[in-house]
Amino acid sequence: LAPSLLANFCAENHDEQTQKVDRYLLHFQLSVETIMDVSVRFRREMDKGLCRDTNPAATVKMLPTFVLSTPDGTEQGEFLALDLGGSTFRVLLVKVRANGKQEVEMEDQIYDIPENLMRGSGSELFDHIADCLADFMEKMGIKDKKLPLGFTFSFPCQQTKLDEGVLLSWTKNFKASGVEGKDVVSLLKKSIKKRGDFDIDILAVINDTVGTMMTCGYDDHLCEIGLIVGTGTNACYMEQMRNLELLDGDEGRMCVNTEWGAFGDDGALDDLRTDVDREIDAGSLNPGKQLFEKMISGMYMGEMVRLILVKMTKEKQLFQGNATAQLLTTGSFKTSYIYSIDTDKDEEGLQKAEVVLRGLGLDPSVDDCFATQRVCQTVSTRAAHLCAASLVAVLRQIRDNKAAEKLRATIGADGSVYKNHTEFSRRLHKMVRRLVPDCDVRFLQSQCGSGKGAAMVTAVAYRLAAQNAE
Ligand code: GLC
Repeated sequence: LAPSLLANFCAENHDEQTQKVDRYLLHFQLSVETIMDVSVRFRREMDKGLCRDTNPAATVKMLPTFVLSTPDGTEQGEFLALDLGGSTFRVLLVKVRANGKQEVEMEDQIYDIPENLMRGSGSELFDHIADCLADFMEKMGIKDKKLPLGFTFSFPCQQTKLDEGVLLSWTKNFKASGVEGKDVVSLLKKSIKKRGDFDIDILAVINDTVGTMMTCGYDDHLCEIGLIVGTGTNACYMEQMRNLELLDGDEGRMCVNTEWGAFGDDGALDDLRTDVDREIDAGSLNPGKQLFEKMISGMYMGEMVRLILVKMTKEKQLFQGNATAQLLTTGSFKTSYIYSIDTDKDEEGLQKAEVVLRGLGLDPSVDDCFATQRVCQTVSTRAAHLCAASLVAVLRQIRDNKAAEKLRATIGADGSVYKNHTEFSRRLHKMVRRLVPDCDVRFLQSQCGSGKGAAMVTAVAYRLAAQNAE
């Protein structure tokens, strides 16, 4: 679409397509009242997860993490970290200096995890992780050192201490056998022992949200929320011990991993879920599970757009009713396409829509491109607003805990969608600020993300262990 051609299809044409899609996707548009209502519902789920009596039946598990404080800047040493469960698997070596300047040096390497390992046998998956770790240590020349290691494992884990995590259930694109119900730290230790050529000291297993909060917390001490919108979505925050009924002790605070992706698994969002949401769920690795996550995160957003385009084509609303084999192929519309189609530069987005649609073998009209752009916008706006709803519930919980009239809080944020889809994060920020005008919220994008956070948690644990030994 040459810009001159586009210019002829002026506002009128645009409005017509917008209205067509809007009529079609009416159920995808959430009013501010509905978003606030979702927020209130989510706050109730948080309560349910926190209370001893209701926790067993709660969908939002509010898992204790045994992370008690963010770094204070006196940590130092050399730490290894593993980061598993996002879009890439990473091994890191992090050097922390306590020179008052909070300097952190980092080396890292990304390793591939073949799909057959993600969904094969658990022991092979952990053997592979140990192999990658060995390769990395070899390359760094540290194979003979027994370094402390932090393991970012981005799945729901029940913890009774910092260095133990029992996997409750796989989520996202993992489904390796024989891991659910087991402690992942023991599984990793077993695989390392089997190799027998190196040794490490696993001090912590943490969720990616916790890693994000810790990384940002190192730079901003007001950071008490960690948010991820990537392959999956989730958040953690610092909760008062007295509210964590599952644990003894009333003093101080502990970070809670909400596992908000499971919100709605008991039907709490059924009135808002659409046919497309049900189709996404039915075709997933974990039907009936993580229903909130499936309405929001990057693993599903592109597929959602594709399903809508297919439906509209079948009803002759798009592409003159002609679908192509590619358009009909699961996964052919990547979430990353949405990032470039749904931009604030409309024309660039439209051109990108044309390129993407042609790549799917279609011969789109300008109207088709407009409509596709509107579909992308609608799907990602709903995702951003749902995410805002749950985030606002967390902010209100923190505000009520502090009995503060005006809360100042920093949210550490990470994940492929949050980082790469500018319009998504812009809409998220805007809706959060609109729903909690009495909070002064700062969003801080985490640099180098969740893996570095695992090293920070390990550094804190290491410092505390050293203090206790004195
Ligand atoms: C999924 C996982 C959760 C993780 C999130 C983001 O929701 O269950 O533990 O934090 O994805 O990666």
